[in-house]
Amino acid sequence: MKVALCPGSFDPVTNGHLDVILRTASQFDKVVVAVAANPEKLPLFDVEERLEMLNECLAEKDNVEAVAFDCLLIDMARQVGSTAIVKGLRAMSDFEFEFQMSQFNRQMAEDIETFLVMASPEYTYLSSSGIKEVVSYGGSIDGLVPEGVARRLYDKFGGPAAAGASGKE
Ligand code: PNS
Repeated sequence: MKVALCPGSFDPVTNGHLDVILRTASQFDKVVVAVAANPEKLPLFDVEERLEMLNECLAEKDNVEAVAFDCLLIDMARQVGSTAIVKGLRAMSDFEFEFQMSQFNRQMAEDIETFLVMASPEYTYLSSSGIKEVVSYGGSIDGLVPEGVARRLYDKFGGPAAAGASGKE
């Protein structure tokens, strides 16, 4: 069985992440979405919330599961029986980071490959940090994240109307 590992902070999951996860799920027998419990950036959502959001969005997909991890990614890959790390690439600006990560991982585990999936054109600008910034200033992120995720973001920051900025009516 070919298992792909899709790792990330997912703070929170966006439609861009889901696009990469679902496209990966169509190419592999199984996808394990690995949520970094303690990403370098201080997360807005704790790991349980981030997992809950992913599980809600992916409930219909039988061959995708989300789990938390707090170790080296290559160790997580071995734990779930995967030799394929899959990440999305939006622009050249992502490339440097992903290239460095893949080289680190390759140096530690030669048998584990990193695959970079090009973001779909409609998601090339989308990022979790951009989403959080827009909501924090009262903007609308409807259509950029799943509904349940938008609801949780509005709960944290107050909805777009509440903040009175560029939210939709
Ligand atoms: O969503 P992100 O920020 O691109 O996710 C980065 C993540 C969590 C995939 C990356 O930081 C990671 O793999 N962390 C686990 C520790 C590790 O294995 N680092 C690689 C060698 S430095």
